Amino acid sequence: MRAAVMYGAGDVRVQDRPDPKIHNPTDAVVRVLMAAICGSDLWPYASMPATDQGRPMGHEFLGVIEEAGSQVSRLKAGDLVITPFTWCDNTCDFCRKGLQTSCRHGGRYGFNGVDGGQGEAVRVPQAQGTLVKLPVAADSPLLPSLLTLSDVLCTGHHGAVKAGVTRGDTVTVIGDGAVGLSAVLAAHRLGAEQIILIGGHADRTDLGRDFGATDIVAERGDEGAEKIRELTGGDGTDKVIECVGTKQALETAFGSVIDGGVVSRLGVPQYGEGPIGPAVLLRNITLTGGASPARAYIGELMPDILDGTIEPGRVFDRTVSLDQVPDGYRAMANREALKILVRN
Ligand SMILES: NC(=O)c1ccc[n+]([C@@H]2O[C@H](COP(=O)([O-])OP(=O)(O)OC[C@H]3O[C@@H](n4cnc5c(N)ncnc54)[C@H](O)[C@@H]3O)[C@@H](O)[C@H]2O)c1
Ligand SMILES: [Zn+2]
Repeated sequence: MRAAVMYGAGDVRVQDRPDPKIHNPTDAVVRVLMAAICGSDLWPYASMPATDQGRPMGHEFLGVIEEAGSQVSRLKAGDLVITPFTWCDNTCDFCRKGLQTSCRHGGRYGFNGVDGGQGEAVRVPQAQGTLVKLPVAADSPLLPSLLTLSDVLCTGHHGAVKAGVTRGDTVTVIGDGAVGLSAVLAAHRLGAEQIILIGGHADRTDLGRDFGATDIVAERGDEGAEKIRELTGGDGTDKVIECVGTKQALETAFGSVIDGGVVSRLGVPQYGEGPIGPAVLLRNITLTGGASPARAYIGELMPDILDGTIEPGRVFDRTVSLDQVPDGYRAMANREALKILVRN
């Protein structure tokens, strides 16, 4: 089969890889119909040291089951399924708590001999627990929106849930990538009244308005935080969802939150030390957030896509073929494209 493999910063190649086969009775082989490139893929694209090995890429995909292992009783060949961005048994103690990202038998796509999603097919470990059947046909126009259940929609929702967003809240979302825009959508869905989006790309923040943002702040850093305080009577918002991952964005988050408020962090930290000293303690700020257990949220969010209440697939502004995946990385890294959909 053909699949995308990263060999170092700026070096993604589409090449032949072994056809996935069932290794364990808990596996399924999924023929990929659609995949996506994630902001998380852009971190190694910017900084991964060159290797001969290469890393299969992609953790967001949906497709059709080609073969299911003997212990995968809930699903069968021909089923159209979505995967959360990590695989899990969905039965261990962590999974039962809704923390499938910590599954005792789980793992990540593209590591330890597991395929990545940006390819023709994937061997999915723990398929019974991981995969969720999609109740639509393989040519449904809803597929791009359903694909966001793999990651960004569930991740934005996780950020809002960890922030404790409820009806009437004021919320700041930092970052106008697909995760930030999904956090806006999720905060709006949970009833937030004022949602201030920090982002510098007008096309992205326009979509943010459609998703429920009430105010846009184009400035980053301290200036951005100052604007947020201006917009909220000097204090900042009750909840802040950080969707970038840089130290600057975390600093903006602390500068934008009211004393006693919550900073919920979704951006994968590109720093080892952060501004979490005495000031954060004295101000009684809660720092929360983390990797999204997307598997926990798919069942709750899917009906809103199926009935048209939300259209999170609007984050995809460019579609490429598998062979064009390297161009897709380039376009996303240059911020020419918001989010890339890969259609096989
Ligand atoms: N927690 C999770 O489970 C999870 C899941 C997916 C992605 N992520 C992470 O979330 C982050 C965002 O993902 P994405 O796909 O939206 O990424 P992206 O790179 O596509 O988008 C990031 C956006 O933030 C903007 N930005 C950069 N610095 C900023 C700043 N200081 N203030 C405001 N905006 C700023 C960029 O211009 C860009 O539009 C990444 O760190 C990614 O790795 C986390
Ligand atoms: Zn992702």
